[in-house]
Amino acid sequence: MKKHSDSPIYLRELEKKDLAQLNNWRNDKKLLDLLGNNFLFISGAVDDNWFDNYLQNREKAVRLAIILKKGDLYIGNVNLTSIHAINRSAEFSLMIGEETHRGKGIGLLATNMMLQHAFKDRGLNRVHLDVLKENAAAIKLYEKAGFKREGVKRQDIFKNGTFHDVVMMSQLKEEFSYLL
Ligand SMILES: CC(C)(COP(=O)(O)OP(=O)(O)OC[C@H]1O[C@@H](n2cnc3c(N)ncnc32)[C@H](O)[C@@H]1OP(=O)(O)O)[C@@H](O)C(=O)NCCC(=O)NCCS
Repeated sequence: MKKHSDSPIYLRELEKKDLAQLNNWRNDKKLLDLLGNNFLFISGAVDDNWFDNYLQNREKAVRLAIILKKGDLYIGNVNLTSIHAINRSAEFSLMIGEETHRGKGIGLLATNMMLQHAFKDRGLNRVHLDVLKENAAAIKLYEKAGFKREGVKRQDIFKNGTFHDVVMMSQLKEEFSYLL
């Protein structure tokens, strides 16, 4: 696994200028099929509102852009949402928008960087996620990044005309290993 010090990427907070690219990904059916979200058409105006809402609720979420250092290219998102101040927990999500940038270790690095932020900077104790049971690539990545399976929510998500099982995973601060 690459160390952060020789990482091809860096993370920065999502910005308004990223929204046009993000909106393309959010309307990409092939990408959406891999995510736990329902497929909804999302206009630019909806994304503008969504982003304004994020800016007003930054204590509950961290939305970061994954930037390829070469070309300073925005290639994906990694998020902590539903941050709970008392339980010190948050929900994790990740996507590399363009297929050409997948399978190169970037998802794993971005996951480790975000977990480091969660546990070291934010003082969180538990990071949890939901992933479609059929998304074998993502489950393998999350296991490699140290997440443990907690169980399955049966027929939890309706998309493409059927209900899909969802695997729940989590990682605790005491289980996390830094790459730095
Ligand atoms: C899933 C996703 C985040 C993985 O990121 P990535 O940068 O492509 O993955 P990495 O190159 O960092 O791979 C890390 C590990 O994940 C696993 N993995 C990644 N892609 C895989 C694939 N297509 N098949 C099997 N395992 C895979 C492997 O264990 C891999 O380690 P290895 O190469 O040493 O075997 C990325 O493919 C993606 O964004 N896909 C579309 C959206 C999505 O599925 N998001 C997750 C929703 S929960």
